[in-house]
Amino acid sequence: MLIFGGTGNYGQYIVKSLVQRKIPVKVFTRDIKRAKKKLGEEPEYFEGDVLNRESITGSLVNVKAIIISLSAMHPKLIRKQKKIEHDAVMTILDEAEKSQIKRIVFISIYDIQKELISKLKLEVGYYKMAIEDRLANSNLNWTVLGCPPSYMIFESFTRKGMMIVPGGGSPIMPSVAPQDVGEIAAQAAIRDDLNKKRFHMTSAEPFSFPEVAERISSVLGRKIKYRKLPLFGLKIASIVTYPFNPYLRHLVKYVQLLNNFPTDLAKQAIEDHKILRSTFEYEPMSLEDYVRISFKHL
Ligand SMILES: NC(=O)c1ccc[n+]([C@@H]2O[C@H](COP(=O)([O-])OP(=O)(O)OC[C@H]3O[C@@H](n4cnc5c(N)ncnc54)[C@H](OP(=O)(O)O)[C@@H]3O)[C@@H](O)[C@H]2O)c1
Repeated sequence: MLIFGGTGNYGQYIVKSLVQRKIPVKVFTRDIKRAKKKLGEEPEYFEGDVLNRESITGSLVNVKAIIISLSAMHPKLIRKQKKIEHDAVMTILDEAEKSQIKRIVFISIYDIQKELISKLKLEVGYYKMAIEDRLANSNLNWTVLGCPPSYMIFESFTRKGMMIVPGGGSPIMPSVAPQDVGEIAAQAAIRDDLNKKRFHMTSAEPFSFPEVAERISSVLGRKIKYRKLPLFGLKIASIVTYPFNPYLRHLVKYVQLLNNFPTDLAKQAIEDHKILRSTFEYEPMSLEDYVRISFKHL
């Protein structure tokens, strides 16, 4: 198994699940030393940059299946977002076809909602849409895992007894433990009966931020207050900083997405989760268990 993005928020759990299953895994990374600190000695590593076609072709030797979990949502990478999340992924798919590697698992956004993507002018949405079109029109054996913001988002909005949510969040939104995505992606990659299937990666029910703050409070045994932060200041800051770094502008769009999550799609999470449970063998991690494991520093 070759994984692009194996050191990322989701990718690290995909690698861990593959390693646990004793499946030989090769992690493509720009920095082996940093990757080893995170993932240990068990995976094989390939040092390279997806912006370099030779790097990609070099990594494909002895590979049976590929998992793509690349992202450029970082202040230092955002200017290269199209090159990393679109152009490089297309190159990976081209080179996989040439090397007769058929099985591809692609970690994507939760759903391709064309209207919402164009309303928010969401660049990442256009890139993922193009990749998914490319897969749909290929002879590759592919599976797309559409991911919502993971439980990590609740942690990143919580500081000093307060969950501060820019814009307040949507009334309901799906979320998932990154560990569950790791397990499902690992299982999907070793199966070949999931061709042309797209899954919504969701826990058993959708959430609202105030409800999550309550649930975190009961696990931690102390009050986590929910507060809505008006988006106005963030929007102004994103416009002012845009000429120097477009990251904040992209972050604002992401936050707008969090605040415009389609309710009907969020409601489907209950059924979507049942599909995951009937297709994959795993025990979903509850929000409470995730908080117990990950929120210790709060
Ligand atoms: N996180 C979320 O809440 C969320 C929500 C919805 C959808 N998703 C989707 O999930 C996927 C993964 O997102 P993530 O948040 O897990 O990513 P992430 O934590 O930002 O990690 C990005 C990964 O991309 C790799 N990468 C970036 N530039 C590279 C380059 N030039 N060459 C080689 N590798 C490069 C990094 O590897 P190295 O640093 O090791 O080189 C890293 O492993 C994306 O498709 C994203 O759209 C994520």
